[in-house]
Amino acid sequence: MVKIITVDGPSGAGKGTVSRILAKQLGFHYLDSGALYRLLGLVAVRHGIKIGPSSDLTHLAENIDVRFEALPNGHNRVLLEGEDVTDELRTEETGALASKVAENSEVRAALLIRQQEFAKSPGLVADGRDMGTKVFPNAQLKVFLTASIEERASRRYKQLLEQGENVSLRALEELVRSRDERDMNRKASPLAIATDAVEVDTSDLSIQEAVDRLQNLAILRGIA
Ligand code: DC
Repeated sequence: MVKIITVDGPSGAGKGTVSRILAKQLGFHYLDSGALYRLLGLVAVRHGIKIGPSSDLTHLAENIDVRFEALPNGHNRVLLEGEDVTDELRTEETGALASKVAENSEVRAALLIRQQEFAKSPGLVADGRDMGTKVFPNAQLKVFLTASIEERASRRYKQLLEQGENVSLRALEELVRSRDERDMNRKASPLAIATDAVEVDTSDLSIQEAVDRLQNLAILRGIA
């Protein structure tokens, strides 16, 4: 049986970094489900399609031409319609677009199977908003990773500064707040804590401490 660990939570809680390292330590595959919504946001803009809860993005979701190329540093290069969009994919603007794309229930349905196909032996660490509640409801370990809004905005602020982007911390806090609001209040699979999830607050944890916490939970469940 394929072992599955889901890591859900709001943006900036550290899901991506923690999940990627955990997957590597366990020798599991990794699914960054947010990247699929981000890609769709980019592709919709490129094709001049207005993004909304009922816009017709299903065809794009089913036929999106995307390739992931593994880099020596463990990260992926992402090619959308042949063009390298790796950096564009991680910007705040693309995150906000993704959050809007994610309100569309037909898109979510179209992406469901694509995401489930990532479950391959020996196991998968899947990060997103509805991994434990919707995509992998039978996961052996479900984690809900959180951190305070201030901490999440400040982490993002440091990241953007390192990338040479000039942003205000106050504006970032507002962005984080509005993305939380949209992700938690949408009709289709809103961000919610699965009833059987373990909540881990990373506000005062280093990345490695958070990874260790999850690995210990996996050991306790007998899947690591
Ligand atoms: O994890 P992320 O920041 O890359 O996700 C970008 C947006 O995509 C997020 O604001 C909401 C949406 N998303 C989602 O609705 N469901 C997922 N499983 C993953 C992301």
